[in-house]
Amino acid sequence: MRLVVLGGGGFRVPLVHGALLADRSPGRVTELVLHDVDPRRLDAIGRVLAEQAAGAADPPGITATTDLDEALRGADFVFSAIRVGGLAGRAVDERVALDEGVLGQETVGAGGVAYGLRTVPVALDLARRIAALAPDAWVINFTNPAGTVTEAMSRHLGDRVIGICDSPVGLGRRVVRALGADPEAAWLDYVGLNHLGWLRQVRVGGRDLLPALLADEKALTSFEEGQLFGAEWLRVLGAVPNEYLHYYYFTREAVAAGRGEAQPRGAFLREQQERFYSGEVSLASWERTRREREATYMASNRESSGAGERDSCDLDGGGYEHVALALVHAIGNNERTTLILNVPNGSTLPVLDSSAVVEVPSVVDANGARPVAVGPLADDAAALVASVKAVDRAVVAAAVHGSRAQALRALAIHPLVDSVAVARRLLDRYTAEHRELAYLR
Ligand code: G6P
Ligand code: MN
Repeated sequence: MRLVVLGGGGFRVPLVHGALLADRSPGRVTELVLHDVDPRRLDAIGRVLAEQAAGAADPPGITATTDLDEALRGADFVFSAIRVGGLAGRAVDERVALDEGVLGQETVGAGGVAYGLRTVPVALDLARRIAALAPDAWVINFTNPAGTVTEAMSRHLGDRVIGICDSPVGLGRRVVRALGADPEAAWLDYVGLNHLGWLRQVRVGGRDLLPALLADEKALTSFEEGQLFGAEWLRVLGAVPNEYLHYYYFTREAVAAGRGEAQPRGAFLREQQERFYSGEVSLASWERTRREREATYMASNRESSGAGERDSCDLDGGGYEHVALALVHAIGNNERTTLILNVPNGSTLPVLDSSAVVEVPSVVDANGARPVAVGPLADDAAALVASVKAVDRAVVAAAVHGSRAQALRALAIHPLVDSVAVARRLLDRYTAEHRELAYLR
């Protein structure tokens, strides 16, 4: 089994490799191909992987290359985890947005649109290349903004591209733990778009345990989402939102917190990662850097809502790479399972058309992933999902047609951008600062 990682010099690759080393199943990955545009990053990550594999029984063979076609030929699975413009680009996205008083997060609001406008043209090229050179490969998209990028890639790859995110898994894990329930026995009724979903039921033994959790103040405020949103608001919603909905429900506070920070997330990570990649790279330096990255994740949201430090269970990782590996097993070994994935809607959410990519529990086996029908969304949630999907589509249209008008539309119709004048200024600054946006005419 040959697995190709696009963005193979990326910081989270050792997480995937660690999961591969632990995998003893018959159809496990035997060949790992790392592709990256930056040989220095490939080299650094290669060193971490070599240390990680020392002493492991039967580790996968690793090759690293900057030649895309060579990487893709013969691929069974492709993980796409790229970052167009690097963390320097992310820092610009964030600063420009915050200067205008709107959100710059890499997947939400103006920042998400800017990042999507940079990433989608590259993702479309990759998708075309994969369709030509490895038409039987399954493509698992990790690249943010994951919903937008997966939908764009599906134009060329159909349902052979599946998007993943670990935030619904983390949410589910925290809620099930707060309930004291058995994770194996729980059915999570979660649905929405990537970074825009709601957990509406936790069914165990055919009974929904969520109402009991919502009624239990202590248990409800014992985990991250309860602390971010507050017990009262969760009870009003009758659901537990994905942590990224903090940007929508507490927009003013999130913007203020972002503007108040000496170093917003993008700038912090740019420096942190630069230190790692240019330093004495080892498994230990990688692990130290990873812990720091995890510990500071969403720190400004937590601080602005009075939530404390992250729970130690959330620092261990174990989300991202396990979803990816579970997906590879289910498809590669035809082991049927259910995972929350980004897949075409079909008839899951009536508010969207069938090709819209949604994030929803999906049955996965050798035939790929199919969404499991869910109950309707509340009106307010459905409206938000429809608005944000319209933004995704404007981003994809801008990239496909090189259209500045569609890019302006994407920014201006975003529910978290409050004026067309702001959208226009944002677009001017983004196009001035990002050479990757020169395609917009
Ligand atoms: C979560 C999100 C991912 C994101 C990751 C890292 O897992 O679901 O989409 O890439 O956090 O966030 P960071 O701010 O550390 O880049
Ligand atoms: Mn995510």
